[in-house]
Amino acid sequence: MSTLIRGGTVVNHDLSQRADVLIDGGRIVAVGEKLEAPAGAEIVDAGGCYVMPGGIDPHTHMELMFMGKVSADDFEWGTKAGLSGGTTMIVDFCIPAPGESMLAAYQAWRHKAEKACADYSFHMAVTQWSPQIHDEMETVVKTYGINTFKHFMAYKGALMVNDDELYNSFRRCAQLGALPLVHAENGDVVARMQADLLARGVTGPEGHSYSRPPEVEGEAANRAIMIADMAGCPLYIVHVSCEQTHDAIRRAKQAGQRVFGEPLVQYLVLDDSEYQNKDWDYAAGRVMSPPFRNKKHQDSLWAGLQSGTLSVVATDHCSFTIEQKRNGVGDFTKIPNGTGGLEDRLPVLWNAGVNTGRLTKEEFVAATSTNIARILNMYPKKGAVRVGSDADLVIWDPKATKTITAKKQVSRIEYNVFEGYTCTGVPRTVFSRGRIAWHEGDMRAKPGDGEFVRREPNAPVNVANAIWKGLTQPKPVARPDIVP
Ligand code: URP
Ligand code: ZN
Ligand code: ZN
Ligand code: ZN
Repeated sequence: MSTLIRGGTVVNHDLSQRADVLIDGGRIVAVGEKLEAPAGAEIVDAGGCYVMPGGIDPHTHMELMFMGKVSADDFEWGTKAGLSGGTTMIVDFCIPAPGESMLAAYQAWRHKAEKACADYSFHMAVTQWSPQIHDEMETVVKTYGINTFKHFMAYKGALMVNDDELYNSFRRCAQLGALPLVHAENGDVVARMQADLLARGVTGPEGHSYSRPPEVEGEAANRAIMIADMAGCPLYIVHVSCEQTHDAIRRAKQAGQRVFGEPLVQYLVLDDSEYQNKDWDYAAGRVMSPPFRNKKHQDSLWAGLQSGTLSVVATDHCSFTIEQKRNGVGDFTKIPNGTGGLEDRLPVLWNAGVNTGRLTKEEFVAATSTNIARILNMYPKKGAVRVGSDADLVIWDPKATKTITAKKQVSRIEYNVFEGYTCTGVPRTVFSRGRIAWHEGDMRAKPGDGEFVRREPNAPVNVANAIWKGLTQPKPVARPDIVP
């Protein structure tokens, strides 16, 4: 059955225009003024609204076993939370358990994601280095359709990898046409600072923030950028929270390196005073890595989105209940790291970005959908309102308002880091591959509606980078033979 979205203004990353959108077979088949409705087509009114590509959140952790707890939102509730906020696709992280192969981790994640209500894809984590990992990476790329590998430079003794492991894996990414991702924090320094703080009696959630200053992040970001350059691959830095990391990315870009930065919506509007809250549960609910920063860093991140030195706004949605967070009472290093945000990302970014004039609505679309679709090599299947693209769409009402509260959220946890924040600009109707998945609070998507999205290697940036690195690589100097 076809659907005609009528009377709205289509917003893409490069252009906004008054246009109707015709959908058939899950795809967009026409975009234009005053389109004819085919016989039997469902008509959806978008008068006074924007019609935008559905949000893509490239950084989520559903049902993840992490720091001894399993994150509370699974693929069903996580994707439902996303849909209710205009996000039609998530990219989650397959993280092999210690000693587990990447291939087994992939199968485990595919199984967990069977109940997804919206489309999804995966990144694969590299948590150690061995000939087996080297070989498995090829299968992950060529057979499983995953072109991104995540590296944790933090979480010493658990997920953290060292510089030699980074270099080996980045080299392999360059060979395979894949993109490495890094969680940039110096895990050795964090571990030392945590021990010092605990010894001095700083045991509450504020210790989390003190043990991970911006320098810890900026140093690791710089290091990863330099290693990526030496290994000959592009780089994507997840959850960029501070000026130090933004500065490293800015300098690398100006020097001709392909480096992408992903701030989180939490970092743009919430600051480190949250960790000083007298209510332990409140402060622990905001514990994530890297932690929230002060206004100077927030301004830097906004400027990065405006100038294009930062590319994508994500959430790192990794929700833990209060009971799970209380694992760290008396020792902040045991508070499971992670916050929610999936259903709030678009409304909060619109309110804090577009309504204040920091972002145009086209830049909003770029930061929430198009840029990541291009970086992850799935554009224009995803990330565009364009003929041939998947009909993952949001009808966005820029005048409607919503006050965020945990009582009404879809996410399964009892609190919300944006509690009480009022947004003007919210989704009215959300389409997932042509079907209405959510409409004004009515969740229509069902478990299993979501599909896995394969992503091929050798994105344009990888290809260009490989050519340049080939031309500029060290070569032997031709010399006449020396006859001894
Ligand atoms: O605190 C966070 N960010 N938790 C999720 C795991 C990660 O580091 O991305
Ligand atoms: Zn299964
Ligand atoms: Zn991380
Ligand atoms: Zn994460």
